[in-house]
Amino acid sequence: MQHLRSLFDIEVHELQRILAASLSLKQRLAAGERPPILERRVIALLFQKPSLRTRVSFETGMAQLGGTSLFLGEEVGWGKRESPVDFTKVLGQFVDAVVCRAKKHEHVELLAGFNAMPVINGLTDLCHPCQAMADVLTVRESLGGYKDKHIVFVGDGNNVAQSVALCTAMLDMRFTLVCPPGYEMDSDWLRRIADRYPKAIIESATDPHRAVADADAIYTDVWTSMGQEAEMAARRAAFANFQVNEQLMASAPSHARVLHCLPAVRGEEITDAVIDSKQSDVIRQAGNRMHAQKGLLVWLLNRKWIDDHVQVD
Ligand code: CP
Ligand code: NVA
Repeated sequence: MQHLRSLFDIEVHELQRILAASLSLKQRLAAGERPPILERRVIALLFQKPSLRTRVSFETGMAQLGGTSLFLGEEVGWGKRESPVDFTKVLGQFVDAVVCRAKKHEHVELLAGFNAMPVINGLTDLCHPCQAMADVLTVRESLGGYKDKHIVFVGDGNNVAQSVALCTAMLDMRFTLVCPPGYEMDSDWLRRIADRYPKAIIESATDPHRAVADADAIYTDVWTSMGQEAEMAARRAAFANFQVNEQLMASAPSHARVLHCLPAVRGEEITDAVIDSKQSDVIRQAGNRMHAQKGLLVWLLNRKWIDDHVQVD
């Protein structure tokens, strides 16, 4: 049973196939084609936290592929009405896959552990693999490839940063996290990346202006993630010098692109002038969520279509 609990669940050549399929499906959509590759397939979206992009991009992507999706919020009583084993095995008889957005990463692991259907991580406290796939697609479109491209992440070393770091390691890109002390990436996560990808170039820094000097893309995320609201004041103070603003952009090369996973707190981690600038890819990046996930869904549920239709460069 193939899951995507994190990008550690797939090999580099599999990621490359998913990304190639995503780009191919994006081109077909632009040409007006919506091939029914997942006709009558059904996925469930099991979400414990709010979402715009993840929810809507999986639902629309699935519809464009000829399948359908069910949104399951609090009303299904996940973790409350019945045991996890009964819940998961029953759900697995109805749906072809489940996308899970969970407060704790262990919930995604638990769901996947029953092998009742493929489980896709739709964001946990640990990582956000679907986001990272869309991000590297966006970099490829803007900068012409993956190899050696340097993403400088200015902000919190949590879920989004951790996934992007792993994804860049898989594609021979470079990654730097620049953050205040105490907000670094999880050391176990970094050790796992180093063990699996010994050539990975992942660095950390504390001076944003120096860190962005050779950036190809500058990425930021909210200072206070969902569930961390009680820490908001402390985080605002800690990250005060880590805003992506015009002064910081002046320290970066003129070709550097701007990324943000969204939702953003405009005026906090990023200013209007930067997020709305010509260097910003933020809106296309959000749109790429759907294209990346279509590639992932086809890879999980109808891999033969990729074998027959997609060439990996
Ligand atoms: N970037 C992202 O996952 O957005 P949502 O929280 O709206 O799904
Ligand atoms: N780090 C953010 C990402 C939202 C897509 C959060 O977890 O809330």
